[in-house]
Amino acid sequence: MNLRFTEEQEMMRKMVRDFAQEQITPFIEEMEENETFPREIVNKMGELGLMGIPIPEEYGGAGMDFTSYIIAINELSKVSATVGVILSVHTSVGTNPILYFGTEEQKQKYIPKLASGEYLGAFGLTEPGAGSDAGSLKTTAKKDGDDYLLSGSKVFITNGGEADVYIVFASTDSTLGSKGISAFIVEKDTPGFSVGKKEKKMGLHGSNTTELTFEDARVPASNLLGNEGEGFKIAMSNLDAGRIGIAAQSLGIAEAALEAAVGYAKERKQFGKPIGQQQGLGFKLADMATKVEGSKLLVYQASKLRELGKDSGKQASMAKLFASRTAMEVAIEAVQVFGGYGYTKEYPVERFFRDAKICEIYEGTSEIQRIVIGKHLLAD
Ligand code: CAA
Repeated sequence: MNLRFTEEQEMMRKMVRDFAQEQITPFIEEMEENETFPREIVNKMGELGLMGIPIPEEYGGAGMDFTSYIIAINELSKVSATVGVILSVHTSVGTNPILYFGTEEQKQKYIPKLASGEYLGAFGLTEPGAGSDAGSLKTTAKKDGDDYLLSGSKVFITNGGEADVYIVFASTDSTLGSKGISAFIVEKDTPGFSVGKKEKKMGLHGSNTTELTFEDARVPASNLLGNEGEGFKIAMSNLDAGRIGIAAQSLGIAEAALEAAVGYAKERKQFGKPIGQQQGLGFKLADMATKVEGSKLLVYQASKLRELGKDSGKQASMAKLFASRTAMEVAIEAVQVFGGYGYTKEYPVERFFRDAKICEIYEGTSEIQRIVIGKHLLAD
């Protein structure tokens, strides 16, 4: 695979790298210690055009290609996986469903605000009883005049409580299973809609993960996205792109962990020489670097396919499966390279270790990615 990036993509990489180092690094401790949502950073990303990278200019976006967007998540996540996931969820599953399935009126109403960062987007699919089996969700939407009344609850919603607009999935006909699911654009101040408990998590401390509750929440019928019954397809097709974003986030974590481990292995001396010169450590670093390179190829292959408008579902799942495993393995080994110091908060590798785990879980667990890949193999 040709990993030559365009000049524009390289400029995006440099711009985001500089931004992350200068603007995000000083805020990491605040996010880690106090679980503070990085609102100012999100505002600055809006000013830089990062909240709408692949959104066409006519809707207020930067009009750049999908790979530029993936590069941005990759670079942000090297410094902060929290900021990486905020952008990924906002764009891939918070904004794109409206771009791809919305009416012209819905696009004009919501996308310019989402693309500029004035609005933050979120995605409400998962429920207490419907995680991997998303098609079994129980939230209902009943037609009531010119509105729908939504009832039910969602869990583990990234950007929950901070988002202005949620893409929410609910059943309009429970007899049809996943074919009875519909998608709705729900604004944060919708009557009957409320944000519930904020989860205390192992990692991603600045990222809000909350419950959502709908008690006859009154959503105008004009906010139905696509047609009734199209919701599951809308969720799945946008998750295809979302999974490339999470794979890029995983890659960022793995690259940061590798860089930290190599740096430390050159500096730290034991037995009279830098520890990296011990073959046991050198082999470890070699394996870590090889997995990182493999992840990079898979991430940018999936992203290129998506950019070219080709079917990228299988490659997206492969990229997420491999890159998230790599992030976990490389982070574990990075802690090992740092020894006792790696187990302390003095060095960032313990954060990489905690942040990596969720990449194997959200936007489809590794087991779900294998199901998706297997289905593609048998269908191809
Ligand atoms: N694109 C378009 N349509 C798709 C599709 C895709 N990628 N995948 C499936 N569909 C369609 C199918 O074609 C089928 O329609 P037809 O019968 O008309 O052909 C319909 O959807 C049902 O498909 P399946 O029979 O394959 O559905 P399933 O019930 O067996 O489930 C699954 C498939 C892949 C396991 C799915 O349930 C899944 O992806 N589960 C994981 C859920 C998930 O990823 N949740 C993430 C939550 S969001 C999140 O995590 C965000 C965050 O915080 C970071």
